[in-house]
Amino acid sequence: MSLEAFSQQYRQRIDALLEQHIEALSDVAPTLKAAMRHGLLLGGKRVRPFLVYATGNMLGVADEQLDGPAAAIECIHAYSLIHDDLPAMDDDDLRRGHPTVHKAFDEASAVLAGDALQALAFSILADHPLPDSLRTNQLLMVSQLARAAGYAGMCGGQALDLAAEGQQVPLAALEQIHRHKTGALIECAVTLGALCHHQLPTDQLTALQQYAAAIGLAFQVQDDILDITADTATLGKPQGSDQALGKSTYPALLGLDAARELAHDLHRQALAALAPLPYNTHILRAFADYI
Ligand code: IPE
Ligand code: IPE
Ligand code: MG
Ligand code: MG
Ligand code: MG
Repeated sequence: MSLEAFSQQYRQRIDALLEQHIEALSDVAPTLKAAMRHGLLLGGKRVRPFLVYATGNMLGVADEQLDGPAAAIECIHAYSLIHDDLPAMDDDDLRRGHPTVHKAFDEASAVLAGDALQALAFSILADHPLPDSLRTNQLLMVSQLARAAGYAGMCGGQALDLAAEGQQVPLAALEQIHRHKTGALIECAVTLGALCHHQLPTDQLTALQQYAAAIGLAFQVQDDILDITADTATLGKPQGSDQALGKSTYPALLGLDAARELAHDLHRQALAALAPLPYNTHILRAFADYI
């Protein structure tokens, strides 16, 4: 199957699943539900669920087993975007081609929708029916997602990102920011897919995580490049947001050419990590090419 066909198929699957999760919320304040729906369901490339499905699928795991981890990580991602756009953070008005949650509703609703989506992620992951042979791994998945979302992952990276605004940070510090704020969740997506296999050899898990670390960093480097080179209509979010805030980015620190060169280098690293794996890695390779 081509990357395009695969990603389209699983985008439809995850969209339907997320819709069901939101519809199933009962006994919930109507504004909170509407704000959660807005932040979770209006658009989005669904890259993290894609990585859960692509990794699990490659390892022979059934789609039904991957649904819980895929939905959970997208809920964490959606929450991170809602909060990232708040006036206290990046103060952006547009996301996925729509007004950001605090613009469509208000700031308190955006804070609460993010909080509730984060909690929902862990409910979905912990409640997802998995075979007994995967019980231990399911607990590990909860722990991995908590780590990737929290102080040692996304939140930690967001804190470093804000602290670096208007500063000329060293290259190593910039890499730290990117690996945490964006790389951690991308890596986690691959890890969750791998943990749905009941006994993946450690060296194979390590190789997959090396792949994920490379594409995770490349993903944020590209996001920073696109903030300069693409337009608002294509991005669905305000072009030039990083420059307006004095964000520390690779293009800002090194220039566009060197940032692109780094992305190419990370692409090579990602492919090298996959090379020794005894599976059909073509979807994961094609995804690295796409980034
Ligand atoms: C945007 O992520 C924020 C970053 C971590 C770079 P995506 O580019 O995956 O955003 P959506 O989900 O497709 O809107
Ligand atoms: C995204 O970084 C990081 C997280 C949301 C965790 P950005 O601030 O660059 O993302 P966009 O460009 O607003 O999507
Ligand atoms: Mg940000
Ligand atoms: Mg932002
Ligand atoms: Mg950005």
